[in-house]
Amino acid sequence: MTAPPLFHCTGLGKAFGARVVLSGVSLAVRPGDVLGVVGPNGAGKTTLFEILSGRLPPSQGQVFFKGRDITALPLHERARLGVARTYQSPVVPELLSVNEVFRAARQAFRPFLSAHDAEWAARQVGLVVPGATPAVALGTLDRRRLLLACLLMRRPQVLLMDEPAAGLINAEVDAIDAILRFAAQELGMAVLLVEHRLELLAALAHRVVVLDAGEVIAQGQPEKVFDEPRVRAAYFEAEAHA
Ligand SMILES: Nc1ncnc2c1ncn2[C@@H]1O[C@H](COP(=O)(O)OP(=O)(O)OP(=O)(O)O)[C@@H](O)[C@H]1O
Ligand SMILES: [Mg+2]
Repeated sequence: MTAPPLFHCTGLGKAFGARVVLSGVSLAVRPGDVLGVVGPNGAGKTTLFEILSGRLPPSQGQVFFKGRDITALPLHERARLGVARTYQSPVVPELLSVNEVFRAARQAFRPFLSAHDAEWAARQVGLVVPGATPAVALGTLDRRRLLLACLLMRRPQVLLMDEPAAGLINAEVDAIDAILRFAAQELGMAVLLVEHRLELLAALAHRVVVLDAGEVIAQGQPEKVFDEPRVRAAYFEAEAHA
């Protein structure tokens, strides 16, 4: 028997009242995988991450970590298991300095992490600002670096990244590319990546899943999938009209 994937879901569905926003979504990742999740605005990508991270319960389907059904586990318990997540907007605590954010992250749950763990994570993401800097004074890239470092310091096994390059200029996207590459290739994390920048996805993702109106309409290698007529119709034409 083959081992179960590190992280997978089967038949996920979500309705808000009468409005169905996800249906029949199944996907799986193994250590070191980078799985891209793409689709036009409103396709259900963030809702999928809400369910995978435990912020929202699904209406149907299950989420598994190492073969264990974790559908009923809340966000913080999934975080303890090693499922980490970032959000579309890099919101940082308003009143804390960079050092204080790191301290809060180190002490978010037991075992508390050491200052060395935080320094290691800051180095890996290339965050080189003075620790006394107010977190809100950071630009978008450094905010994303700070939030990513707070996740990486705990060495999670699964990273759910919701548009980590949003709001960045092209030159800055390379920094995110390098961090995610390091997380997958050197640290062996499984990365699920929602991203509108297809060049970043094509460079990083081994596979992509295309969502349209809450359903998976295509999946496979990025260069093949992006070429499929129905993907072009759902995604690129929607983007062109956005
Ligand atoms: N709490 C909610 N109540 C009702 N509808 C919701 C709720 N959250 C999301 N939706 C709807 O579900 C659909 C999917 O939204 P979602 O944010 O998951 O899309 P997305 O693919 O992440 O889009 P984007 O690319 O713009 O980030 C949208 O039509 C949205 O309006
Ligand atoms: Mg979204």
